[in-house]
Amino acid sequence: MSLYDKYLLPHLLNLACNTKPLRYQRNKIIPQAEGRVLEIGMGSGLNLPFYDADKVEMLWGLEPSEGMRKKAEPNLAATDLKVEWLGLPGEQIPLDDNSADTIVLTFTLCSIPDWQKALEQMRRVLKPGGKLLFAEHGLAPDAAVRQKQNKYDPTWCKISGGCHMNRPIVPMISDSGFRIRQLKTAYLPSTPKVLGYNSWGYAEIE
Ligand SMILES: C[S@@+](CC[C@H](N)C(=O)[O-])C[C@H]1O[C@@H](n2cnc3c(N)ncnc32)[C@H](O)[C@@H]1O
Repeated sequence: MSLYDKYLLPHLLNLACNTKPLRYQRNKIIPQAEGRVLEIGMGSGLNLPFYDADKVEMLWGLEPSEGMRKKAEPNLAATDLKVEWLGLPGEQIPLDDNSADTIVLTFTLCSIPDWQKALEQMRRVLKPGGKLLFAEHGLAPDAAVRQKQNKYDPTWCKISGGCHMNRPIVPMISDSGFRIRQLKTAYLPSTPKVLGYNSWGYAEIE
């Protein structure tokens, strides 16, 4: 791992993911989490202040990057939630089948290398009737924006820890054994359009 990835990237990701529009998105979905919750790519723990502690029994924070887990320490210190780290990638969720009531996926599906395998794992560990809450940026509907996304993606991916700006988030989820139950989409304000097209809502096992 390069020094950039190890030391600078966690700091940059923490800053980039803590903008006002992203906090606004977090507040739309995170309070719906309940029971035993699994957060995929928990990063620096920016969702922690948005959970409803009365509804959450415990939270597994799956995060493969040691640098991001370290960056999460202040948010962990400030939460009353019972949090257990899982230091593995989303492709290898170390939990039993049907063990989570809620899975949270915010601004992470863009960065998981084998996203099909990760969604397969999420489907395995989510209880029937449980919710996959998501808020993700991805492929825009407008041709001009898509063209720029496709052009800049290879360079962006190299400097952003493997984040792709042009992934088709909704089909990725719905083609992986989930039924989308609630969906909203919009370009976020004060965010470059190539990174600002958001899809959020929840899905259940099909
Ligand atoms: C842009 S950050 C978002 C962090 C957090 N979800 C949030 O909403 O602030 C993307 C996160 O995905 C994590 N990540 C990268 N590859 C992953 C994988 N294979 N499985 C799970 N998480 C991964 C990164 O380490 C990083 O913390």
